[in-house]
Amino acid sequence: MTEKQRMLSGMRPTGRLHLGHQRVIAKWAELSDLYECYFFTADWHAITTQFDDTGSLRENKRQVVIDYISAGLDPTKVHIFHQSDVKEHAELHLLFSMITPLSWLERVPTYKGQLAAFKEKGKDIATYGFLGYPLLMASDILMYRPVGVPVGTDQMPHVEFCRELVRRFHHLYECEIFPEPAPIFSNIEILPGLDNRKMSKSYDNFINLSATSAEVKEKVWQMVTDPSRIRKTDPGHPDICAVYAYQGFFNKEEQAEICQNCRAGSIGCGECKKRLTEKINAFLDPMREKRAQLEADPALLDDIIATGNAAARRVACETMELVRDAIRI
Ligand code: TRP
Ligand code: SF4
Repeated sequence: MTEKQRMLSGMRPTGRLHLGHQRVIAKWAELSDLYECYFFTADWHAITTQFDDTGSLRENKRQVVIDYISAGLDPTKVHIFHQSDVKEHAELHLLFSMITPLSWLERVPTYKGQLAAFKEKGKDIATYGFLGYPLLMASDILMYRPVGVPVGTDQMPHVEFCRELVRRFHHLYECEIFPEPAPIFSNIEILPGLDNRKMSKSYDNFINLSATSAEVKEKVWQMVTDPSRIRKTDPGHPDICAVYAYQGFFNKEEQAEICQNCRAGSIGCGECKKRLTEKINAFLDPMREKRAQLEADPALLDDIIATGNAAARRVACETMELVRDAIRI
């Protein structure tokens, strides 16, 4: 039997994960049948922007692992680990930094964009570490020598950077260690924010996977609907209403009926929201159960992470042997 190819991905533990992340994680879980998977919390990456706010980092990392598992990753099938527990990532980052032209990093489109976005909020993240974000990410990826990496389209420049780095490394040290990883796009439909804008931390327009049923109710209740509907009998425009968009994700079976009744002015927004709340809560219930089990057994979670760390380290050690030999250090 041939061994499965390896695959990896990660998220930054800058807070709790939300409904949008769940869809990505569900996709990861599907890939785990095809590949040997490594999923991690990118805690060093979290510090690139939150270096002045690390108080909740440890708790966030733990919670992201709980989110991963409760959203569908099976720790008996995939390896779950923390980036900073596998120090080889730092060594690879350092060695790569020797061959990475500064101009490559400066021209990554997310770099200037993020810098400006943070500046607007009054924060200067023009650090050495933040400039190196794509390089650290390339080290994460290449460490596992995967053929592909599942990422959102926003991460595409980082994957492209990674592929260029592979070519340069092989050329300089006359070796063939890394496959050039291809981006794996998930073609999942993106869940919009509660206000129909892009889901974003800065807009506070999302529902966390760890939200209680009361919190879900409150969040849905605050969603803005079609503003032209003052009375229940006013005909509505579901196509501009975020509640309606959400029905399409969480209440597919009633969406067509709601559409008709909204247009006809025969369903009130309160009723519509009530139905959505119930559906989202029903969707989250199994995750809540899983979360409660994990919260109740910290030793189990520690064990899952320790096992994942060890598996990741085995691969990382192999890769570093190859890399050190190629550089002859
Ligand atoms: N930059 C990724 C994000 O913000 C997180 C990340 C870090 C990552 N290292 C990675 C994703 C390696 C995939 C592979 O989502
Ligand atoms: Fe939106 Fe539902 Fe109100 Fe129509 S009835 S405007 S779909 S909340």
